[in-house]
Amino acid sequence: MKNYILFGAPGAGKGTQSALIAKKYNFCHISTGDLLRKEINEGSEIGLKAKKIIENGNLVDDSIVLEILKCELKRKTDVNGFIFDGYPRTLNQAYDLEKLLGELGWGINKVVCLHIDDDMIFKRIQHRAQIENRKDDTSDEIIRQRIINYHTQTEPIVEYYIKQGKFVEIPGDTTIEQAFEDLCNLIDNS
Ligand code: AP5
Ligand code: MG
Repeated sequence: MKNYILFGAPGAGKGTQSALIAKKYNFCHISTGDLLRKEINEGSEIGLKAKKIIENGNLVDDSIVLEILKCELKRKTDVNGFIFDGYPRTLNQAYDLEKLLGELGWGINKVVCLHIDDDMIFKRIQHRAQIENRKDDTSDEIIRQRIINYHTQTEPIVEYYIKQGKFVEIPGDTTIEQAFEDLCNLIDNS
């Protein structure tokens, strides 16, 4: 199993690139954001707990996200690896993931960060808001809150993966094709 974390700010292209990579390498794409939105649409207990938090641009409890992650990992067995999109997002989640994968005899190959600056985050998300219907994309205030949470709660994880020699950064402000080529080169060589 080859397992990768696609790391980056809101709008960095994690979802776009994860889908392309999953298809090319037969990886399972796990987006905790997509899974939480599914729970909300289904009106499940988890969805009810997560709805307000997500719509305000804040992070859902580590324990809730871990629960849905565990279910998803169990469901998929016929793949060459996993691509984690939007997880981990706190240091505790990084520890949870390491423990969970360790129990299965797996680990993380690389953590790849798609780097974009804050101005581009706004442009990308405002553009997506015209196409998709994500509540957390509709107001600048909520986008700003997501960016703050990324810098304060998620970015500190970088240090953890740098120490493990697993962190790599690629430009996220290139074309979709160029970012995909950069990612494939990394996967082919790790
Ligand atoms: P999540 O769904 O993960 O959202 P996010 O991290 O804010 O990231 P986005 O999905 O907005 O962006 P992306 O990087 O996937 O970019 P995309 O490819 O779409 O999380 C949502 C919420 O759920 C969180 O705020 C939190 O509340 C909760 N949550 C999720 N995971 C959690 C966790 N682990 N713990 C706690 N809470 C959690 O691209 C963006 C746009 O740009 C698209 O329109 C795309 O077409 C376009 N685009 C992409 N790449 C390019 C390019 N190279 N050039 C031009 N356009 C591009
Ligand atoms: Mg996404």
